[in-house]
Formats: sequence, C-alpha cells, structure tokens
Amino acid sequence: MIEEPTLTVSKIRNGTVIDHIPAGKAMDILNVLGIDGKEGLRIAVLMNVESKKLGRKDIIKIEGRRLSPDDLNVIALLAPNATINIIEDFAVIEKYKVSLPNVITDVLRCPNPTCITNKKGEHVRTRFKLLSKEPLKLQCEYCGTVISESEVAKLVARKH
Ligand code: CTP
Ligand code: ZN
Repeated sequence: MIEEPTLTVSKIRNGTVIDHIPAGKAMDILNVLGIDGKEGLRIAVLMNVESKKLGRKDIIKIEGRRLSPDDLNVIALLAPNATINIIEDFAVIEKYKVSLPNVITDVLRCPNPTCITNKKGEHVRTRFKLLSKEPLKLQCEYCGTVISESEVAKLVARKH
C-alpha cells in the first residue's frame, strides 16, 4: 500500500487543539482569539490539510492555553463544526464540538454607528440573536441590524 504524503506536526503536551476548522479560516480564528504569537505560546497552525470529513481543513494547536466560553462562541461563529480537544499529558482528556448559542452577548460589536451599544458612556453590552446558522445571520437585539457570515470576523470585539 502506498502511503499518502502527510504533513506531520508533533503532538502537544498540555493545551488545546482546535480541529475541523474550514480550510483557510485558521488565521481569522487566531486573530479573533487575539493570539499573534507575541504571547510566547507554542502554536502550530496547519492549513489545507486532508480531512476525512471536510476534504480539506485547518487545525490550530495551542500549548499552554485553555479557552474561555467567549472564545468558544467566536470560534463557533467562524467554524461552526470545529472540535475542541483538551490535551493533558499528551492525552485527549476532553473532546467536544463548539455550538452557537441562540443569543450571543459581548463578543460582537454592532456595525450600526447609531446603535445604543456604540454610544460612549452607555456601556450597553451587545446582544445578537441567531436568525440562521446556514447561511449565518445574526440580528442586533437593540437596533435590528442583521449581520452575515462575511462581516463576522471584522465585527468581533477584540479584547487584546
Ligand atoms: N493532538 C495533539 N496532541 C496530543 C493529542 C492529540 O496535537 N497530545 C491532536 C491530534 O493531532 C488531532 C486532534 O488533537 O488533530 C484530536 O486528536 P484525536 O482525538 O487523537 O484524533 P481523531 O480521533 O482523529 O479526532 P476526531 O475523531 O475528532 O477527528
Ligand atoms: Zn445595533
């Protein structure tokens, strides 16, 4: 049997592997997680690698970092079928799929400049209702503005 050529990347000891990311989306995900490499974390990014389920996929391996619930929500916005693997001492101790909640608070900003969530001094937290998963559509609960998949990456409120 002839072996397929593969891109081998070492396993990690402790941390998080984000698997089954749509091909080409890994950089957007690192960006919305606020990870740029300057934190000193050891990170492997695989792009356009073979996948049994997706044809091609991206994978991100982050050593020494766990993800917060907000992190998981932004990943779900960009990679609705991503699998999160928690690694401890080289073993996968937890594996789950991300899921999009019906209401997403805080992580997105509203593109409408007159929306109350963009008023200085008001400190209103954003709330978007999930209208549709495919294609992705979310609606601001305050002003009704609808945002779609192509706008999501640039509307993620960066914490870093
Ligand atoms: N992984 C890693 N370091 C480890 C353990 C696993 O980087 N110490 C990575 C694997 O390379 C893989 C992902 O974490 O990309 C999930 O590992 P595993 O559950 O062993 O792989 P699969 O069974 O192929 O996962 P799935 O069924 O979710 O596709
Ligand atoms: Zn709004």
